[in-house]
Amino acid sequence: MIQVGIVGATGYTGLELLRLLSNHPEVEVVYATSRTEAGRKVADFFPGLRGICHLTYSEPKAAEVAKCESVFYATPHAVAMHSMKELLDHGAKVIDLSADFRLKDVPLWEKWYGCEHVFPEGVEQSVYGLPEVNRKKIQTAQLVAAPGCYPTSIQLGFLPLLESGLIEPSDLIANSASGVSGAGRKGDVSLSFAECNENFKAYGVSGHRHLPETEQGLQAIASGESEEINLTFVPHLLPATRGIVSTLYATLKGNQTLDELVNLYDERFSNEPFVDVLSKGQLPSLQNVRGSNFCRIGIEKPLDRNKVVVVSAIDNLVKGASGQAIQIMNIMCGFNESKGLHLPSVAP
Ligand SMILES: NC(=O)c1ccc[n+]([C@@H]2O[C@H](COP(=O)([O-])OP(=O)(O)OC[C@H]3O[C@@H](n4cnc5c(N)ncnc54)[C@H](OP(=O)(O)O)[C@@H]3O)[C@@H](O)[C@H]2O)c1
Repeated sequence: MIQVGIVGATGYTGLELLRLLSNHPEVEVVYATSRTEAGRKVADFFPGLRGICHLTYSEPKAAEVAKCESVFYATPHAVAMHSMKELLDHGAKVIDLSADFRLKDVPLWEKWYGCEHVFPEGVEQSVYGLPEVNRKKIQTAQLVAAPGCYPTSIQLGFLPLLESGLIEPSDLIANSASGVSGAGRKGDVSLSFAECNENFKAYGVSGHRHLPETEQGLQAIASGESEEINLTFVPHLLPATRGIVSTLYATLKGNQTLDELVNLYDERFSNEPFVDVLSKGQLPSLQNVRGSNFCRIGIEKPLDRNKVVVVSAIDNLVKGASGQAIQIMNIMCGFNESKGLHLPSVAP
């Protein structure tokens, strides 16, 4: 049994960590922070945990957090980087759900996040936590940057095609739609019920923070390619609470059949506990992933032309955030990777 802390335990990903970890046999959550709710019982704030979680929220104090063996940072960007050195010096294993340690290019991070990075050494030390790509490195890492939600759905969707060099890397397109919880719990008129319900819109088309992260990941996956990755990424706001569906488009270099493409995905992900390749003719939907840690993927080759279309669905709060973070913790701590995570989706 390990003792775990969660910094930012009133936000959507923090609450999802509390929910999922309450079902993890190797973990005891001993520290959950909130600046605004310090002193209040977690179960009073989130009654869904009544009778299950007996913790009280604490102020986030790095010295206290560092006493935990494993720590999750579920805070906005530019928070974790301030306490990271102290935590690492204490020997804690840290999984950061924010973007602070995802981009290896620090000036690029500073450009996209609009502030100075105060711990670039941590960026160097951190491992990008997509288990399906970096499992070995995660096993021995002390600091892991959990991937963003959109980047998870897009990288897993393109992975077999890029790894095997079957598509043009310079002309990739991702049309992604996310439920409103992707923006976190903060109040914002544009995220209110009346603005989102029965509405659907693209945003961030001129450039979204998840674009450099996704291109960095895709470039690493396509390491054998001489051409640079070029992704057109269009995020959309979906009138739903949870879930992301990414529809991905790429140009095939050769003339593989749909059967061959589905086989490629089947083989690549056959040993992956949380990537599910659907049979030919099937496509995933939000209902197939909501509440679960699965990424479900369907592949099509419309009219047998030279374009491949991949549909990749995840729950943004589970495989896109807290579930994947627990998967990472399981790998870092030597637990079975699926521990606490083998949950079906919730439907309807
Ligand atoms: N939502 C998603 O689908 C999703 C998916 C993947 C990754 N992420 C990333 O995960 C992180 C958390 O996202 P979220 O959606 O859970 O956000 P959120 O709902 O806005 O929650 C943020 C949490 O951080 C705490 N916090 C804020 N500022 C803090 C500070 N300066 N020091 C300490 N605690 C602070 C807040 O509590 P107090 O203000 O009470 O302290 C709250 O508990 C973000 O970096 C986000 O980009 C989110």
